[in-house]
Amino acid sequence: MASVIFSLLLLVLIAIHGGMCARDVLKLPSERGGHEAHGDHVHGGEGSHLDHLDPSIMIFFTLPDLKVGKTMPVYFPKRDTSLSPRLLPREEAESIPFSFYQLQDLLRLFSFKPNSPQARAMEDTLHHCETNPINGETKRCVTSREAMLDYVRETFGDEVSNFQTISTAHLTVSPTHFQNYTIIDTPRPVLADRMVACHTLPYPYAVFYCHSQETENRVFEVSLEGENKDRVNAVAVCHMDTSQWSRNHMSFRVLGIEPGTEPVCHYFSADNLVWVPTTARNAE
Ligand SMILES: *[C@@H]1O[C@H](CO)[C@@H](O)[C@H](O)[C@H]1NC(C)=O
Repeated sequence: MASVIFSLLLLVLIAIHGGMCARDVLKLPSERGGHEAHGDHVHGGEGSHLDHLDPSIMIFFTLPDLKVGKTMPVYFPKRDTSLSPRLLPREEAESIPFSFYQLQDLLRLFSFKPNSPQARAMEDTLHHCETNPINGETKRCVTSREAMLDYVRETFGDEVSNFQTISTAHLTVSPTHFQNYTIIDTPRPVLADRMVACHTLPYPYAVFYCHSQETENRVFEVSLEGENKDRVNAVAVCHMDTSQWSRNHMSFRVLGIEPGTEPVCHYFSADNLVWVPTTARNAE
């Protein structure tokens, strides 16, 4: 019986992806030259094996660095939407099991061999989704736009009726690479007392890991220019209170600071969605 259900699901999935083999949909960073699949920096210590997946958020800086003329090396991977799986409609997404416990069935469903890179990516993603958030943080992995909106609504509460996403945008078509970028305009603060950040995780269909910290964050839009004249309008966040973060969090090692002593900032890459309440000013 179970195998019949899984065969049916597989047919549905193949239909969804326009006849593309499910195996082709899941691409790993190594297969895409590290440009597509992004994990997340996990603010706790556990689960941080996914840290390496998003290079742009491995660059940490502090609040005083957000000023015109400041230069720092960053890698902003370009979004290639033709390679990214789309979010499924909720009904379809929720018809597919999404749990670490069912990993073996899921591997059969997608025809991935155990221990293949695709199997390991699914395992990592499910593990990451089921790891408890750190104190003062909520998180949810979502597989449909509706589920993402539910989480954003729950996080912002009833008093916020409108919200929007902001994302890092590439203003030039040149290929990007790890290089020095200089802040060329005064960073613009985004008015937001709450924010939700959603990052894609590698999986055969679109999975976003969304999370939000109750402590203060400050969001900025930053105009940057690379050494090769690449222009990026980047979204940056500064976490003002890092006292609950693991001592082992990479940012502390990079910046040489202790948890809770100084705000830690980072950029988002273009395929991260940052949700903020819409205020008159942000809507301009
Ligand atoms: C950025 O500039 C600094 C100072 O000029 C240099 O030492 C460093 O190698 C550069 N980094 C990259 C990635 O080009």
